[in-house]
Amino acid sequence: MLNVGLLGAGRIGQVHAVNIAAHPKTRLAAVSDVHLASAETLAKTYASTVKTSDEIIADPGIDAVLIATSTDTHADLIEAATAAGKAVLCEKPVDLSLDRARACQAQVASAGVPVMVGFNRRFDRNFSDLKGALDAGEIGAPEMLAITSFDPAPPPIDYVKVSGGLFRDMMIHDFDIATFLMGEPPVKISAVGSSIIDTRIGAEGDVDTAAVTMTYAGGQIAVIRNSRRAAYGYDQRIELLGSDGMLQAQNMLENSVVKSTADGVTAAKPMYFFLERYMPAFAALWDGFATSVTQGSALPVSLDDGVTALQMAEAATRSHQTGQPVLLGDL
Ligand SMILES: NC(=O)c1ccc[n+]([C@@H]2O[C@H](COP(=O)([O-])OP(=O)(O)OC[C@H]3O[C@@H](n4cnc5c(N)ncnc54)[C@H](O)[C@@H]3O)[C@@H](O)[C@H]2O)c1
Repeated sequence: MLNVGLLGAGRIGQVHAVNIAAHPKTRLAAVSDVHLASAETLAKTYASTVKTSDEIIADPGIDAVLIATSTDTHADLIEAATAAGKAVLCEKPVDLSLDRARACQAQVASAGVPVMVGFNRRFDRNFSDLKGALDAGEIGAPEMLAITSFDPAPPPIDYVKVSGGLFRDMMIHDFDIATFLMGEPPVKISAVGSSIIDTRIGAEGDVDTAAVTMTYAGGQIAVIRNSRRAAYGYDQRIELLGSDGMLQAQNMLENSVVKSTADGVTAAKPMYFFLERYMPAFAALWDGFATSVTQGSALPVSLDDGVTALQMAEAATRSHQTGQPVLLGDL
């Protein structure tokens, strides 16, 4: 049994608590949150214990920590937990600064303990099946990738202020999925972005609508489109064109009913947001981490993957700011 300490009992910490508690090989041994009431509520729900993050990291009875705290604490907590010999699953992003994330990467390499970044979309059944078909050679060699990722509505402006911007906060998931599918990061990234949904987002120097094109060493091309608003719900689709065909992953709908009448043909909306769409993916992500750590096998997602996605986000941010393409190797 893996004894787990959960750091952060906020929105995503509550999702992870469900999966830690439900997994047959893991136990929610302790919960921390600087907002004590959040930790107490979660600990009570799962008959767990409230401790501080420092106490969890120092506790020899805890084998692994799940870091679900605010982004600006991730790198410090990864370093502290790995120095104490804990296996770590950390939410995205590793940090908002590429330099800080790389320093953390170097420290973790010397600690020699497993660290995984919580890129949940790799564990979505649709996307993992698409990857399986690609790896089985069913569409030949990949040539052009298109990722659509639209949120149903923008986040609160207070969240935007500390998010690090759309490319680091939101598109980072799509950068990781692109690397997951293409098997390597791109060599060149060009980005455009606008603030046309909420002028307060633009006033913070951020964008709410963005498109990125990426070129790979072999000449393959990927396009990512992000919007902070889609009136019909959470739009999460992938299209991958290969030398022998195409793979597409469509949206998950609220139900499968299709109504056909004299007025037309209608279907249900996509599942509303990530908590609805990706709940099974979060459970699969936790199972992937717990299985690897208990068996001592390779993690399905590494800290290096987290740093690569951040490097791509940094390149996209710079490209948007300068209007010029950015070579990933220059960062
Ligand atoms: N994978 C995903 O799809 C996904 C979705 C949402 C959020 N996230 C990431 O998860 C992280 C948390 O996001 P959230 O939406 O849950 O935020 P949140 O604000 O709801 O929760 C974060 C919690 O961490 C607590 N906290 C801050 N510093 C702490 C510390 N040192 N020790 C203990 N607790 C501390 C805060 O009090 C808060 O309760 C962010 O990095 C975010 O990018 C990932």
